[in-house]
Amino acid sequence: MADKRFHLAWFMNFTPDEWREPFGQGGNPWDGRFYIEMAQAMERACFDLIMIEDKLMVPETYGRSRDLSLKHAMMVPKADPAPLAVAMGMATQHLGVVATLSTMAYPPFMLARLSSTIDSLTKGRFGWNVVTSAEDLMAKNFGMDKLPPREDRYAMAEEYMEVVGKLFDSWEPDAVVLDRKNGIYADGSKVHAIDHKGPFYQVRGPLNTVPSPQRRPVYLQAGASPRGRDFAARHADAIVSVANGVEGMKAFRADIRARAAALGRDPDEIKVFFCITPSLGETEAEARARYEHVTMSDNFVTDVLISISAITEIDFSIYDLDKPLPEKLVTNGESGTLDKFQQWGSGKTLRELAASGGGGLVSSMELIGTPAQVADKMGEAMAEVGGDGFLITTPVLRVSRRYITEICDGLVPELQARGLVRTEYKHQLLRDNLREF
Ligand SMILES: Cc1cc2nc3c(=O)[nH]c(=O)nc-3n(C[C@H](O)[C@H](O)[C@H](O)COP(=O)(O)O)c2cc1C
Repeated sequence: MADKRFHLAWFMNFTPDEWREPFGQGGNPWDGRFYIEMAQAMERACFDLIMIEDKLMVPETYGRSRDLSLKHAMMVPKADPAPLAVAMGMATQHLGVVATLSTMAYPPFMLARLSSTIDSLTKGRFGWNVVTSAEDLMAKNFGMDKLPPREDRYAMAEEYMEVVGKLFDSWEPDAVVLDRKNGIYADGSKVHAIDHKGPFYQVRGPLNTVPSPQRRPVYLQAGASPRGRDFAARHADAIVSVANGVEGMKAFRADIRARAAALGRDPDEIKVFFCITPSLGETEAEARARYEHVTMSDNFVTDVLISISAITEIDFSIYDLDKPLPEKLVTNGESGTLDKFQQWGSGKTLRELAASGGGGLVSSMELIGTPAQVADKMGEAMAEVGGDGFLITTPVLRVSRRYITEICDGLVPELQARGLVRTEYKHQLLRDNLREF
């Protein structure tokens, strides 16, 4: 019988949890314990990986002030994903840990060294979410006035990937000899300078870390624009996306696979993950009531608008909440997310757009019901799409232990019982787990 399994991943960030709600952890996750326990729950449920989102600025687009984002703890405070990835990786044995690191922030040498170190610390389970950043506010923290246009960011990122690739290869696989008798640690003839001189980067090399178990981290990417999709198809081991419904998912995956094949890659080497935010209950009515409770809450609309304003650098506070948007908006930032959010032509008011953001902004399809109902729907959707996996997340990335338990102890066993997801890990390396099916 054909293997109908798909992969599971989780998308979160190092910010306060669902701190205002009765089942929240309280908004003080900075010692990492809450998220380490979350990673352990993911491992218990045999997820491929947990992925940590990141941004490098305090949002102040919504209402042209940072006051509201601070008041709501919306995208701020946000702590560094790299040390959290290490902490989560060292508290687990099988789960992949993925940190978002921007090509606009790290010099390539630092990123290659950091990634190699984390991959060794986690015994080959590190992934890098390759982002090119999306905000002028970020650029101002790194000596720039404005972020370069998307095309230029991707041109820089292409060269960036070439440089880090050369750095990861600057030590031959058998360069470390560790010959105690003859006193030879590494063989100098197998460690090479890279002497890279390009339009954007000049790096001599070699890297000063030993080859890590995966040699280079697993690359994740989320390109949505045509240029971004080509970049992802060329480099990524896994692609994360928010699509519109099953048809949108199917079309996106087919497009990525066609681009990968045109670039000479085996499309099966790339796993496409679609964001979903299941809303679960003991009955379908309870699940729907809970979904509505979240998306209709006073704070939710504001949280969504702060968040979408931050990542598109469009101030949504200037628009009337009870009217449709007056024009189709464009951004130099996260264009795919903006297009999905504004649902141009739907006639929905801004308030309705924000409320449907509960599932719409981050969910590629509606999944509301009992664990059994949602598992059936996920299985049907994946069969239609053709593979490869789902990236479970929560509206505006707020998370609670209760929700984690609902997914890991409610939904995942239903998926496992249907033969749809893994029940045990077979491989040590994250890349091998991704390529298992
Ligand atoms: C699931 C998902 C996760 C993302 N995570 C981040 C992130 O952590 N940090 C970031 O700056 N951008 C993030 N992005 C944005 C993408 O990196 C990218 O900028 C966006 O999809 C737009 O692609 P484009 O530039 O090709 O239009 C994410 C996008 C998606 C769909």
